[in-house]
Amino acid sequence: MASIVTIYGTGEGQTAKVADRIADELGRRGHKPTTVNVKEVDSVDLANFDAVLVGASIHMGRPQKEVRKFVTANRDVLVTKPTGFFQVSGASGKESEAGDAEAIGYLDEFIDVTNWRPDRIGLFGGAFRFSEYGFLMRAVMKRIVKKKHPEVDATQDIEFTDWEEVAAFADEFATYVEERLGQAVTVN
Ligand SMILES: Cc1cc2nc3c(=O)[nH]c(=O)nc-3n(C[C@H](O)[C@H](O)[C@H](O)COP(=O)(O)O)c2cc1C
Repeated sequence: MASIVTIYGTGEGQTAKVADRIADELGRRGHKPTTVNVKEVDSVDLANFDAVLVGASIHMGRPQKEVRKFVTANRDVLVTKPTGFFQVSGASGKESEAGDAEAIGYLDEFIDVTNWRPDRIGLFGGAFRFSEYGFLMRAVMKRIVKKKHPEVDATQDIEFTDWEEVAAFADEFATYVEERLGQAVTVN
């Protein structure tokens, strides 16, 4: 059994939902999952965990600043453990080559800025919850979505997350952690 912490940034809650779904799957595989909002990360000691997942969502072309800061500050520890990163974005929700390229562009920039190469990566579509945005944000988002996601009906909330993909990522990460920890035991 591995203790696996997921540290995530979220604006409107979709990445928190993804982190919870991943934790469910890791628990189902017999591991001990913990999820922590990056805003509370000061209370976390990475030394207490066998493996680390980091999650972030994209707003205005970037992941949460707190996630970038956390990864940069803890890079030296992260490279010693099995790690994964997942990104939640509107771009991945498009399910098109252009959307994929956009999502990979965000990821490349994150890797460049943090100089951290996670061992496993998941790119997931997010959600647009127009009904929960404030007046100004709703107006801005409707304009952006109309331009970038012409297929979306901006009068309705919409969730693009493919939960099977999320579960498959968690499953693949669990297998990877088991292999890495198994190897570590053999080497020692
Ligand atoms: C203000 C705002 C800006 C956004 N900007 C982008 C963007 O630049 N690129 C993108 O692919 N998705 C963008 N999105 C879509 C979000 O990534 C998507 O809504 C995601 O589900 C947010 O996850 P969260 O609730 O965990 O923050 C934006 C969403 C909002 C509300």
